[in-house]
Amino acid sequence: MDKPDENPHVTGPLLSYGRQCLDDEDIRAVVEVLNGDWLTQGPAGERFEQALCDEFGVRYAVVCSNGTAALHLAALCLDWKPGDVVIVPAMTFLATANCCAYVGAEPYFVDIDEATLTIDPNEVERHLRRLRTEGKRVRAVIGVDMAGHACDWPALRALADRYDVALVDDACHAMGGTYADGVKVGSCAHADVSTLSFHPVKHITTGEGGALLTNDRDMADRARRLRSHGTVRGRDQIADWDGPWHYDMVDLGLNYRLSDLQSALGISQLKKLGKFVERRRAIAKRYTECFAPSSLIRCPVERAPVKHAYHLYVVRAKFGPDTISRNELFGRCREQGVQLQVHYRPVVQNTYYARQAAYRDALRSLPVSCAVYQEVMSLPIYPQLTDSDVERVARLIMELLPGREGRVRPSPDRSSVRRPHLSVR
Ligand SMILES: Cc1ncc(COP(=O)(O)O)c(C=O)c1O
Repeated sequence: MDKPDENPHVTGPLLSYGRQCLDDEDIRAVVEVLNGDWLTQGPAGERFEQALCDEFGVRYAVVCSNGTAALHLAALCLDWKPGDVVIVPAMTFLATANCCAYVGAEPYFVDIDEATLTIDPNEVERHLRRLRTEGKRVRAVIGVDMAGHACDWPALRALADRYDVALVDDACHAMGGTYADGVKVGSCAHADVSTLSFHPVKHITTGEGGALLTNDRDMADRARRLRSHGTVRGRDQIADWDGPWHYDMVDLGLNYRLSDLQSALGISQLKKLGKFVERRRAIAKRYTECFAPSSLIRCPVERAPVKHAYHLYVVRAKFGPDTISRNELFGRCREQGVQLQVHYRPVVQNTYYARQAAYRDALRSLPVSCAVYQEVMSLPIYPQLTDSDVERVARLIMELLPGREGRVRPSPDRSSVRRPHLSVR
């Protein structure tokens, strides 16, 4: 989410790991709203919600101010409370875990699948079983379709049913992706609720923005209410209705609304989602072809029947004294106008969580996330990138990773990870 800043050494445009793709049609859509009567709470919001329902095949869409707000609304709608535990992947953006903490629930970090980097259903089951035995009140599992690769939703649904917990799809990375033979990520075919982000690095943008998707009418109504101060209006909603001006606050809500300017941009962007994802997939394919001769780079996988949406193109390499440090490689790429990023440092290593007693030993059960964190780097991927940009980035990285230390090996499995590597840093 870092913004590419000015670099005095770079003459051309900086290639960052992600950026928005806007055209004249998008600009016209926003200007039309600016020339109209409603800058917010007008008709564009509802139109965007309908377009999202049509695109994702869900009954209800509630647009809101960002993806974090969508997750917070989901946490409020699912009634998570202090004392509740919610299972989240160790490797994700902060917001996935923070939405639990906002409502006083405990995010419980679980390790990821070594190949797809999505939450590992076997680990989810192991922890669900143990937490239940310990008498913990586990309320939900949140899956994240990491980098655009869908989680194993059928397996997670089976676990959610067996352990009677809710299932949340943090789909912020995977708009336009599919799983289980063509089922769209975000469709709520398996999850109870899905959340999206329209941040500029995502597949489509509204500047800032997000949405909660669900097939549950009560949840959608509640999310809509909470998005707008927890208020209701109208004779049918208010027992002592006093007039058309009357609104009544029935829940402690927030102002998480999306403006009409943003919604209009969202409608225009959504029309291009399919095209954007196809271009991202073509870029990913080109990177993978370019890296084929290199034994030092490990490219992302697409595990059938998943269709990867490539929000990120995350490669893995062994950094260190025998090759090159990640920071040095990042610095050298930066000098050449290429800005790389790391997705992600395990959330629990952030000071806010690491300093809490509850998380003191958390890293011990996260060997895959810890090992993967040492290896990952996200390369530029967004629709405007040309094939020659992609080839230049791939060439640059291959030149910088010297061939002294042979192959990129898979991350160690659980049994071979030595404990001293797992301390909180
Ligand atoms: C997995 C994931 N969840 C949630 C969010 C939060 O979205 P937003 O930045 O729109 O609040 C992000 C944003 O990067 C994300 O990557």
